[in-house]
Amino acid sequence: EKRNGDVLQQSFKEMISTLPKENRWGFLEDYYQYQGFWISPSFLQGALSAQQQFQAQPTDVILCSSLRTGTGWLKSLTFATITRTSYNDSTTPLLHTLPHDVVPFLEFDHSQFSTNLHLGIPLLATHLPYSFLPKSIIDSGCKIIYICRDPKDTFVSLYHFIAGHCKSKNAQPIQLDEAFELFYEGVSPFGPYWDHVLGYWKASLEHPDKLMFLKYEELVEDTVLYLKKIAEFMGYPFSSEEQQQGVPENIVQLCSFDNLSGLEVNKTGKHCEGQGNLEMENNIFFRKGKVGDWKNYLTTEMAQRFDQRTMQKLSGSGLSL
Ligand code: A3P
Repeated sequence: EKRNGDVLQQSFKEMISTLPKENRWGFLEDYYQYQGFWISPSFLQGALSAQQQFQAQPTDVILCSSLRTGTGWLKSLTFATITRTSYNDSTTPLLHTLPHDVVPFLEFDHSQFSTNLHLGIPLLATHLPYSFLPKSIIDSGCKIIYICRDPKDTFVSLYHFIAGHCKSKNAQPIQLDEAFELFYEGVSPFGPYWDHVLGYWKASLEHPDKLMFLKYEELVEDTVLYLKKIAEFMGYPFSSEEQQQGVPENIVQLCSFDNLSGLEVNKTGKHCEGQGNLEMENNIFFRKGKVGDWKNYLTTEMAQRFDQRTMQKLSGSGLSL
């Protein structure tokens, strides 16, 4: 079986090497364009393996997002909600684990370890576009939660993430205005960003009972309200007793930017330790956690161009960002 697996991986590698590639961002590896999206070869290889091998269970909850749209926050909120009867405020793994590490990534952890993904809780995350999801995720009828964010804030957050990561590896980061043009053209990890969002948006209209579509800004605006909706959607609703005891509020407080970013593990720990280019400081996942930080980085002209792009891309979809 291992041999078959190796042959499969080799055939994925060969296929990937024939795809259009690009590296104007100055990533640590080239990005490849596959079925309309830009993706790193290791994630693409993981995605192809997952498409062939991953078996979703109807009780699974899959957390989907592009980069820098609040994935870690959604991971922490859903993890704390699902595990609320197993742990309390002083025993939850979130106190000593990066939120990104409590819920594995389908295309990444699966390809690396290809062992049981479920870790005892039915949560899994992915950055893959909707059209890339393994068929079993759609067929099993499991729940999907998608989180997106204002493209301007997403871009600014992504720029800092990539520039910070490059610097830590002694690579030369790209300038913000060049990165802006690339993102605008659709050349960004898992981009075009708008197409990523639209894929999930359309699916959420078709299957509202299976796909919950969230915006980072809404979650910031009323986290308790949205957490209750998320819990209900996942099949772990807060009872009226729990609501009286303030359980949702406690989870929101535990997972708040201020609380999590202040924990030792998130200040000084490492993500993917010992895994070469993938290794990074946990604190790179906590920057500001604010809505509208783009105002500090984009000129009015840039912002207007971005907004026009968004309007043009989303026109007729019923979605606004
Ligand atoms: P900023 O760079 O704008 O601060 P992801 O987890 O998808 O990579 O998203 C990262 C973004 O979410 C970063 O945005 C990060 O600061 C923000 N973030 C991380 N934890 C958060 C939390 N608990 N609450 C709100 N935002 C959070």
